[in-house]
Amino acid sequence: MPLKERVLAVLEENKGKSVSGSEIARSVGMTRSAVWKAVKALREEGYTICAVTNKGYCLSEENDFLSEQSIVPNLRTKDLGRKIDVFKTIDSTNNFAKSLAQLGAVHGTTVISEVQTQGKGRMGRSFYSPLGMGIYMSVILRPELSVEHSLLITSCAAVAVAEAIERVSGIDCKIKWVNDIYAGNKKLCGILTEASVNVEQGGLEYAIVGMGINVQNVTFPKNIADIATSIRMESGKSVSRGVLAAEVLNCLEERLETIRDKSFIEEYRKRSNVIGKRIEVTHNEVTTAMDCIGIDEIGRLLVRLDSGEEKALMSGTVRLVE
Ligand code: BTN
Repeated sequence: MPLKERVLAVLEENKGKSVSGSEIARSVGMTRSAVWKAVKALREEGYTICAVTNKGYCLSEENDFLSEQSIVPNLRTKDLGRKIDVFKTIDSTNNFAKSLAQLGAVHGTTVISEVQTQGKGRMGRSFYSPLGMGIYMSVILRPELSVEHSLLITSCAAVAVAEAIERVSGIDCKIKWVNDIYAGNKKLCGILTEASVNVEQGGLEYAIVGMGINVQNVTFPKNIADIATSIRMESGKSVSRGVLAAEVLNCLEERLETIRDKSFIEEYRKRSNVIGKRIEVTHNEVTTAMDCIGIDEIGRLLVRLDSGEEKALMSGTVRLVE
């Protein structure tokens, strides 16, 4: 790891606390003047590092940059996030992860960026991804799963992300089928899963789970202001994006280990904000009102049409009717 990154790792580990120049120098194996040069370079990148006489350097808790150093020390995973690419800017972390997967990137490889210039949402929509505000992160998964079990990855990820946000921020997170995380009646996070199936062997080759979490936003553009929210707006707190990104990976790895026994479905149902509600479902540009009566063992939405007919839906966009 380059010297500057090693100094950053020590400062991140002690965020909000002072560490003396000689202590940093000892732990990274360099001179005090090299530490000073690294601190200067980090400040030029925008990090707020104060130097206190007789105490040393202190990385301000206000700093919320994404870096390997702010994420990796908070991981408890075996695979997820252990190989991580952190970008300042990218078109879409899902697109980049897909190209890495095609080149053979290992299970758990993670791509994260401070901003996305072409963030993608479901159904060909775009995902609002402004600089420094969110977590725009994609994970390459290569679990040995049948196509049937692979269909559960998105719902499993929704449970994991809801749990992670709740653990870090205390916000009560609900899931709007299929994979939107809600706080109250506003969206906090969207998930886009893209997969490649091995046609010859009939199993999953890889899946890319892309998550977009609104973290530090205090405003949204007019077109989404009524439907979007952020962790800061809901909790009044500024949570560390590095800590949250790591917790998402921790929860995702834990939940994926149980995907075959489907135990996460019970948690998904508990967190659902549509079961028992009157909803409108839009599918192939046709919108139909119906009642949601449950979610089945393979994550399908169980609904009762006004004719009395009951159906299990695989896809569609749900809107809660007030
Ligand atoms: C949705 O709400 O429709 C899904 C949004 C998914 C957004 C994430 S952000 C990280 C990853 N990269 C993308 O381009 N999209 C996903």
